[in-house]
Amino acid sequence: MQDYSIITKEISKAYRKGEGGFPFKRKSQKTIVALDNVNLSIGRGELFGLLGPNGAGKTTLIKILSTLIIPDAGTALVNGYDVLKEPGKVRASIGVVSSGERSLYWKLTARENLEYFARLYKVPDEVAKRRIRELLSLIGLEDRADDLVEKYSSGMRQKLSLVRAILHDPEILLLDEPTLGLDPGFSKSIRSFIREELNKKQGKTILLTTHYMEEADQMCDRVAFINKGRIVAVDTPERLKTMIGKKEVLKVVVEELGDSVLNVVKTLPFLEDYRVTGMEQSSRKTVRMYMKNVDAHIQEIVESFSKAGCRIISLSVEKPTLEDVFINLTGEALGDEY
Ligand SMILES: Nc1ncnc2c1ncn2[C@@H]1O[C@H](COP(=O)(O)OP(=O)(O)O)[C@@H](O)[C@H]1O
Ligand SMILES: [Mg+2]
Repeated sequence: MQDYSIITKEISKAYRKGEGGFPFKRKSQKTIVALDNVNLSIGRGELFGLLGPNGAGKTTLIKILSTLIIPDAGTALVNGYDVLKEPGKVRASIGVVSSGERSLYWKLTARENLEYFARLYKVPDEVAKRRIRELLSLIGLEDRADDLVEKYSSGMRQKLSLVRAILHDPEILLLDEPTLGLDPGFSKSIRSFIREELNKKQGKTILLTTHYMEEADQMCDRVAFINKGRIVAVDTPERLKTMIGKKEVLKVVVEELGDSVLNVVKTLPFLEDYRVTGMEQSSRKTVRMYMKNVDAHIQEIVESFSKAGCRIISLSVEKPTLEDVFINLTGEALGDEY
């Protein structure tokens, strides 16, 4: 049998609408399903990505695996321990970086933060000192180690949170949107630290969530698509991209001068799906069109746009991305970019 670090067994979780709201309001009986029968097995040493749009249920799954909330149904094994029966052993096996939550003391320096958390994790002082020095230098913060965290940029704080999560050298890391909102430089160095140092070199099993398709594509051994609480597909990025079948992707950038781009696209009967993106106030739109045999239709596409008074700026046949596959499977886009 394969050796798994994380196994989720039919996990479901719903929130009551208005949970945590004003206490005197009558609680509505409506619920929001955050996770619906989630089954995943993540192998030891694997870097596994959970890719899905906002509200898909990613954070809820991370919270269940880190024993912060309990599921309504199902359970999970983390490092062989049941999250419901042995939460203490689960917590000792994992390092967690949660998204959007403050996990550092801003009035302390980076080093003071790390020394404090190392004691919480019961790492012996001597070991902690050495480890803190090594990790800060690996992640490129050694020069700023004695600055207050309030003076840090959000990218630096994110790096420090990552170091905080691995002080006790856990086997398993749960990273919730580790590069959310960071500029490309920081994202790149955090991604490579996670992939090269923590996963490949140190052999840690890593579950990360993201709504950036490039992140999932570049970093992960395997990716699960999650949408509205359900796992839609699980495979390597390469194999997921072949799921789009014989369909090709034609990307057209147009200047919308006359009729709307959307109206043009709707009249093309051979399109299996399409996505129009672009700034609302700008007349420049990017259209991704999915169809079989682009060559046979390109003439008609060009003519339809020009008849409607749209000027074509560029036109290219592209390889499918994970986002294209996601759109084809769910009818929904991952996020706001691209
Ligand atoms: N504490 C909560 N109370 C009510 N609804 C919640 C709560 N936390 C999350 N949700 C809802 O559950 C769904 C999944 O949320 P979440 O797990 O945070 O998704 P993601 O991390 O993929 O954006 C969303 O519809 C969200 O609004
Ligand atoms: Mg989230």
